[in-house]
Amino acid sequence: MSRPGSPESRHPDSPDRDSPEQAYQDFTRRLSYGDYLHLDELRAAHQPVTAAHDEHLFIAVHHVSEVWLGLIIRELQAAMTLLEGGVTDTPLKMLSRVVRAQEQLTNAWEVLKTMTPADYLQFRSAFGAASGFQSAGYRMVEVLLGNRNPALLRPHEHRPDLHDPLQDALRAPSVYDLTLRLLAARGLPLPRAVLERDLAQPTRLDEAVLEAWLTVYRDPEQYWDLYELAEKLLDVEDNFRRWRFNHLTTVERTIGFKTGSGGTSGAGYLRRALEVVLFPELWAVRTRL
Ligand code: HEM
Repeated sequence: MSRPGSPESRHPDSPDRDSPEQAYQDFTRRLSYGDYLHLDELRAAHQPVTAAHDEHLFIAVHHVSEVWLGLIIRELQAAMTLLEGGVTDTPLKMLSRVVRAQEQLTNAWEVLKTMTPADYLQFRSAFGAASGFQSAGYRMVEVLLGNRNPALLRPHEHRPDLHDPLQDALRAPSVYDLTLRLLAARGLPLPRAVLERDLAQPTRLDEAVLEAWLTVYRDPEQYWDLYELAEKLLDVEDNFRRWRFNHLTTVERTIGFKTGSGGTSGAGYLRRALEVVLFPELWAVRTRL
């Protein structure tokens, strides 16, 4: 006997639902794919300023990266709200999504690397002082993760709509600050100086925090969710480092050691940024175990 809906069960005169002719055709009164996703606006944002073939690639990779950064911000903020309320399971799922989105961001370099220095020079002078250094999305991700440096927010001072949220995030706990508060709430001894630190400053390695993580890492069963959270945060920082490293390598192979369009030394600046450590004790705990 044939299964209902299988090709054998179909009456010869009944329409073939598998055929493209059966798809909805009239969108005068229906929400279409393009309208739902505002694809006209999306396409309108793609505006090369030269006739250079590779400028399309350059713009597309930046746009795609900004969309992923936007998603990462949403996931981080949602995870942080839950962590603040003492919840750990759903944030773990959200951080897993962040990790996957970061992989997409890092993979984007593979496409961009097909652009040679000569290709890039065909349009480099056309975008003046514009640089990823001024990416408000990237800065928000950094600030949420705990890289706190007020100087990095300055390029946004002329845009309060971008600057204010960054400034607010700079003065609020990072995802790591919230994790440390959870450790304290579970009875692990953390000094007041850590829990009430000046949030606008970057995280510095603290011996008492390291001791608290050692307790967790020596007894994962007892602190399973904190242990998993720590490893997930390490995945996030690991991926962040990979993105930074691949950016640096792409920059070196494209412009060598020329200065950056944003005004920094270029590769030298990016090399120094590789030294930033977001969750110092989570790296140090490995040495002590
Ligand atoms: C061939 C392509 C690229 C080149 C040559 C390049 C070059 C540079 C340079 C030289 C800097 C240092 C700041 C300055 O401009 O003075 C920089 C920063 C930056 N770029 Fe790129 N970049 C490229 C592609 C991208 C892409 C696709 C993104 C994706 C969003 C991106 C995001 C950033 C960010 C976020 C920073 C700031 C990094 C930090 O402050 O740590 N860049 N880029």
